[in-house]
Amino acid sequence: MSLKSLMTIYQKRVETALASYLPMASIQPTRLHEAMRYSVLDGGKRIRPLLVYLAGKALNVTPTSLDAPACAVELIHAYSLVHDDLPAMDNDDLRRGKATCHKAFDEATAILVGDALQSLAFYVLSSAPNLQTTDKQRLEMIKTLALASGSRGMAGGQAIDIESVGYVLNIAELENMHIHKTGALIRASVKLGALAFPSIENHILEKLDHYAKCIGLAFQIQDDILDVESDTETLGKPQGSDIAHNKVTYPSLLGLASAKKLAQELIDDAINSISDFDVQAEPLRWMAKYIVTRCY
Ligand code: IPE
Ligand code: IPE
Ligand code: MG
Ligand code: MG
Ligand code: MG
Repeated sequence: MSLKSLMTIYQKRVETALASYLPMASIQPTRLHEAMRYSVLDGGKRIRPLLVYLAGKALNVTPTSLDAPACAVELIHAYSLVHDDLPAMDNDDLRRGKATCHKAFDEATAILVGDALQSLAFYVLSSAPNLQTTDKQRLEMIKTLALASGSRGMAGGQAIDIESVGYVLNIAELENMHIHKTGALIRASVKLGALAFPSIENHILEKLDHYAKCIGLAFQIQDDILDVESDTETLGKPQGSDIAHNKVTYPSLLGLASAKKLAQELIDDAINSISDFDVQAEPLRWMAKYIVTRCY
């Protein structure tokens, strides 16, 4: 099976699960629930859920046991995008080929959508009945997602991003920002998939974590590259947003060629770290390559 067909299978699977976890738009408060569904459903590549499923698959975990962590991380990611697009942050009008949440609804609703999606993520992870792992590992999953989302993870990275506008970061500072704002949730995704395996061993977890760290940074480098090289229609979000908002990015600091080289080196490193995993881990290798070859 190819990565493309695996992606289609898991994208459909996570879409169905997300649609069932999100409150129906007919339930009060209807406008908030409508905006939550608008911001989560029918869009996005679902890379983070895919990583949950593929890390779990590498360890022979059944997909049923991975639905809740896959949805939880996507709910956090969707919330981060809704807030990232707000006028106080990147002030963007287009997301996943549609008007951003604050444009389709209003700013107050977009803030509340983020708040509510974040709570829903932890509700899903803590209450899903079909997790086949131990309660101890479920707690570890909750802790992993909480740390990766908060001020020492994604939200912290976003704070660095906002503070750094107008300053020239050095490469170490830029790496630190990317590791937090994007890398943390990607790293958490792989770990959630691994924690769904009840007797996961530490040395396996460490190898997967190294893989995840590398692809997480490479993912944001590629995002920065696409902001320069792609076009708005392909991206489904405004091309050139980083330049327009004076953001420091890998291409702006290193140039495009060096940014691409670095992303490729990180992918090689990621693949290397899981070289002794069996054939079940092959899709994780495909995924690593996809992260730097994707065009949106
Ligand atoms: C965009 O993430 C924001 C970043 C962290 C770079 P994705 O490229 O995964 O966005 P979707 O989910 O596919 O829309
Ligand atoms: C956002 O990074 C990372 C998040 C935590 C949402 P960007 O601001 O580069 O993401 P895009 O390009 O708007 O998707
Ligand atoms: Mg941003
Ligand atoms: Mg943005
Ligand atoms: Mg970007």
